[in-house]
Order: sequence, then structure tokens, then C-alpha cells
Amino acid sequence: MTARPIIIDCDPGQDDAVALFLAMASPADFEILGITAVAGNVPLELTQRNARIICELAGRTDVPVFAGCDKPMRYELITAENVHGKTGIDGVAVYVPGMPLQTQHAVDFIIETLLAADDGSITLVPTGPLTNIGQAISREPRILPKIREIVLMGGAMREAGNTTPSAEFNILEDPDAAQIVMHCGRPLTIVPLDVTHQVLVSRQRLEQIRAIGTTVGDAIVGMMEFFNRFDSIKYGSDGAPLHDPCTIAYLLEPGLFEGKMCNVEIETGSPLTRGHTAVDFWGVTGRAHNANWLYSVDADGFFALLIDRLKA
Ligand code: BDR
Ligand code: CA
Repeated sequence: MTARPIIIDCDPGQDDAVALFLAMASPADFEILGITAVAGNVPLELTQRNARIICELAGRTDVPVFAGCDKPMRYELITAENVHGKTGIDGVAVYVPGMPLQTQHAVDFIIETLLAADDGSITLVPTGPLTNIGQAISREPRILPKIREIVLMGGAMREAGNTTPSAEFNILEDPDAAQIVMHCGRPLTIVPLDVTHQVLVSRQRLEQIRAIGTTVGDAIVGMMEFFNRFDSIKYGSDGAPLHDPCTIAYLLEPGLFEGKMCNVEIETGSPLTRGHTAVDFWGVTGRAHNANWLYSVDADGFFALLIDRLKA
């Protein structure tokens, strides 16, 4: 089996960090061409720094990190320090990484890499607001045939919004970019809150991760102890939803998830419902299917996969 070439576009974020750790722990499955940072959970200066810290903790300083867009296409940047802490990855020690930031802009990197690739060869994995990807597609539509598929974390249907009553954070942040991605015409899988709210970092699962006893395992425990607080209170649950790693887990073991081809459109305007994912789950509009909307996951299977990979 040859490793699948991927670009991970993210805004670390503790859960983005776990997604990166899981991908980096799977070198036979993924050739990580680059990590592209975007403003989201915290400003760009911090997301790109955090991505480099994650690479250093994983001993993967060979993976290049690029900084991309520092604000959404149209709206003001919304950050989520209330969830992720001041640094974005509260729970681990933050420092100035030794690993350099690439000088190329992330959007240029995405465009250049895709243009040079074979058709249908590169998988994009966005786990933050979709600004970098939306900008790359609108600036250079010739990249589209190069995309094998996009697997992104964002949106909500049955779970409703986590940032407004209507909207999930990543889609709310840049609904215009999200709508570009919905209409890109390439195979698209969406991991919404409907799925990620089934994947809770319970006390028992946290202890299993602690027992791994590695630098990465300990970093995850530290971050999750912080991350768990906010959502456990908000949702009254035993642990927080581990959103972003579901994208990587889907690529590794799609059989853990159930999904349905649907039409998904983004509300880009309304001040009340901006960022809402209008999912035509029952096919009532007759609009063309544009996404595989995931709605369920085997949560124990997910954690078994995560812990196995982290141990290896
Ligand atoms: C998403 O928003 C961020 O807070 C998380 O990193 C995740 O990507 C969940 O709504
Ligand atoms: Ca994220």
C-alpha cells in the first residue's frame, strides 16, 4: 500500500493537535505534504506556532508548516479562547519552536502543490475554518481536478450549532469559504458535530491515553484535561467531543462511520443563522448531492484506533 498524500489545513486547537498526532503516527497510511495553518480557534500567529510545536512533540520536524489566511474572506475573525485557552493548546507547555515556519504562504503552497500533482491524487483534510481552501480554489480553479477528496470537520444538523444556535464554529467563521468548498465538485466528506459529539474523551478513555506513557500521550492528556472542562460543563457530559481527529480516523477506517450522500448548502448572509449547514438529509429539495454527510461513528472503535496508533 502506498501512503496517501494529504495536506492538513488546521487551526490548532487541542483537537486539531490530536488529529495531527494521529496522522503523524500513521506514516504507512499518510504522506503529509504539509500542514497549513489558518486563523480560527486563536489568531494565525498562534495556530502556526502551535502546529510547529505539535510536529516537534511528535518528532516530525520533517513535515513543513505554512501560515495561511489571518482572517475570513468577508467577516471579522471570531476566536475561541473560551474553549481552547489563551494559547489555543492550553494544557501543554508552549514555547518558541526551533522548527522553522515555511516562508511560502499556505494558499500558494496548496496551489503550487496541487498544480504539480497528478489528477485525483491529493486529499485535503481541513479541521479549521475553510478560508485557505476557499481562497486556493477561487484563485486557481485548475487545482480542482487534482483533488482526490476533501474530508473536513464542520457543520451540524441534528446536534444544532455549538457557537450559535444555528452554526458550528468552523463553518460560522468563514461561511463564504465553506460554500465554495460545498460547490467544488470534488468528492467531499463532512464530519459534523452530529458525529463528533459521539466521540467523548471520558475519564476512562483519558486514563487509557495516560497509560501509553509517551511524550505525545502525555501531551494529549494535558491538553484534554484542559479541553474537557469547558464542554463537560456545557453539555453535562463525561468529557469533551474530540472533533477533528474524526477526519483522520475516517480516512484510516471509514467502516467506523456511517454517512449518506446529501445536498449541503451554507447560509452565508443571515445575521441570525449565518454559518448554518442546510443539510437535505431526506432529499426534499431535489438539489444535487454534493457531500457524504456522516451521522454516526463507532466511538469505542475510534478510541481503539487512536490508542493503537499512538502506542505504535
Ligand atoms: C471545531 O471548532 C474548533 O473549536 C475545533 O477545533 C473544531 O475544529 C468544532 O466546532
Ligand atoms: Ca479545529
